[in-house]
Amino acid sequence: MAQPTHPSSTASAPRHIAIIMDGNGRWAKQRSRPRTFGHGEGVEALRRTVEAAGDLGVRYLTVFGFSTENWRRPTEEVSALFDLLRLYVARDLDKLVKEGVRVRVIGERASLQSDIAQIIGNAEAKTRHNDKLNLIIAFNYGGQDEIARAAKKLAADVAANRVSTAEVNAESFARYLDTAEWPAPDMLIRTSGEYRLSNFMLWQAAYSELVFVDTLWPDFDKAALEAAIGEYNKRERRFGGTDPVVP
Ligand code: FPP
Repeated sequence: MAQPTHPSSTASAPRHIAIIMDGNGRWAKQRSRPRTFGHGEGVEALRRTVEAAGDLGVRYLTVFGFSTENWRRPTEEVSALFDLLRLYVARDLDKLVKEGVRVRVIGERASLQSDIAQIIGNAEAKTRHNDKLNLIIAFNYGGQDEIARAAKKLAADVAANRVSTAEVNAESFARYLDTAEWPAPDMLIRTSGEYRLSNFMLWQAAYSELVFVDTLWPDFDKAALEAAIGEYNKRERRFGGTDPVVP
């Protein structure tokens, strides 16, 4: 990964960008190819975006790889998405280790196939000393599921008298979320011209700047990321107050 080439864009890059990588199916359909072909090209777009985010000085990049609702898709498509995660890690892990990328995976892990859980654990372990860019892959992730799992852990702590109900507030609750260690996304991008959160980062996106772009995910590249950052830099963030706040 190259050193930042444009100090000005590095200075203005948001610290944390989250992306709903949407439009793989439509991209494939436009080319009369199966949806899984679009997902394969989606991985290429992800590789470009990780590289670009590192070059631009982004510290956290969270991407939506597979949602708790994506199980409703045909079995072949679900297996193709799992295979793509296997392939991505197998092909890119050494490169990610070398380039200072720390990989973390959020989402419900207990019910994942054991080889997937192992691949994820290995990627996290091998990159744990990296700190240039944190690549957070949301896999088998749903915002509502994450909040429910957090509530369950908190309830267990309250029941065991480790936490009192008086101590429960937004800040303490957030420490039970999968994202406890990281700042909230500054910008959330959704590609493909759809305007929904689709159960992604429901808690964390409370004050994220939402940027919707028409580009289908397989066409996303560094220029598209820079354009989204340009849009972000035009926004004034107030976090519910009246004065601009630079987080
Ligand atoms: C949405 O496109 C995309 C997904 C459900 C999966 C995103 C996955 C990747 C980009 C590749 C896999 C990456 C990892 C890390 C596993 P869609 O299929 O909903 O597209 P459509 O709305 O055009 O049908």
